[in-house]
Amino acid sequence: MQKGADQPIVMSGIRPTGFLHLGNYFGALKNYVRMQDEFTCYFMVADLHALTTLTETKELKANVSRVLAENIACGLDPDKVALYCQSHVYETNELYLILNMLAYVGELEKTVTFKEKVKLHPQNVNAGLLTYPVLQAADILLHRATLVPVGKDQEQHLEMTRNFSNRFNHRYGDVFPEAHAFNYGDELLKVPSLDGAGKMSKSENQYATIYLSDSDELILNKVKKAKTDSGTDPAAPMSESIVNLFNLMKLVCAPDVIKHYEDTYQSGTIRYGDLKKQLGEDMVKFISPIREKAESIRNDAKYLKEIMEKGAEKARKSAQATMLLVRDAIGLNYY
Ligand code: TYM
Repeated sequence: MQKGADQPIVMSGIRPTGFLHLGNYFGALKNYVRMQDEFTCYFMVADLHALTTLTETKELKANVSRVLAENIACGLDPDKVALYCQSHVYETNELYLILNMLAYVGELEKTVTFKEKVKLHPQNVNAGLLTYPVLQAADILLHRATLVPVGKDQEQHLEMTRNFSNRFNHRYGDVFPEAHAFNYGDELLKVPSLDGAGKMSKSENQYATIYLSDSDELILNKVKKAKTDSGTDPAAPMSESIVNLFNLMKLVCAPDVIKHYEDTYQSGTIRYGDLKKQLGEDMVKFISPIREKAESIRNDAKYLKEIMEKGAEKARKSAQATMLLVRDAIGLNYY
């Protein structure tokens, strides 16, 4: 499909707060790669968002390089998309400030991700954390994007983005289209963790998360230790940990392999050890080429700098055009 002026605009981002994992890949990156051939795309490393939880920034540069390298290793082409760093697009800050006037403290306090972070870091409940969804809305609205490829955990942030943009349009005039969370599948994804509790995550649950940088041995080991259950009574409802394992298989295993294990589950002859061995091996097959490619890109500082500069230039062009409309609509134009 030819990318054109009337094509939907795509925007998304990933925080450089740790190593990327299978959840980031299947929830977000896999969609980015497919969308880059169909739409005008803006993808960024959300370094300003990372500051809401980081109390020190020694690792920030290495983490930003890693996220950029992993984005490219997963198949993003910096010539086809704008791949940039959030802090390089200064217009983000201005739109964030303006949108803050359209966000109510009560609704921000009710945001699920805010409440989770308060529990996790009770000593660092800062105002940036509270207004996290406003900054995310600024990222999206800055490009007047309508499609936002993200995992299930970001659904509420997208709903809030629509609330802020609708309020803006209502108060000042139509500037922003409605943005929606997007996935090529039927629904937004939540890739489960291997311990059967919660989801894969960059910073928590490290032994139950498979990272794109994990060695083959580590992947096999993590999967081997994944939680199963003791019973193989096919008449009983499948336990959550086994449902999770089958869901993980659907991401990396061939359909006939999955069918084989579904059949053995049904007949009560399944051996979870075999299933986990197969799952581990298929994860290794999937991850090892990405890991190796990312490793070589990550150490090429000159190439990464070029990409960031090129990406920021493209993103700022689009951001500046939007900010002209925003200032005009508000009446911040006195001469
Ligand atoms: P972040 O960095 O937590 O995650 C990056 C992307 O990965 C998805 N994801 C998952 N998907 C499925 N299963 C999982 N276990 C899983 N874990 C993470 C996330 O949904 C996300 O798509 N707030 C965003 C970053 C952001 C952003 C934006 C996103 C900043 N500005 C503008 C979209 C548009 C975040 O923290 O993602």
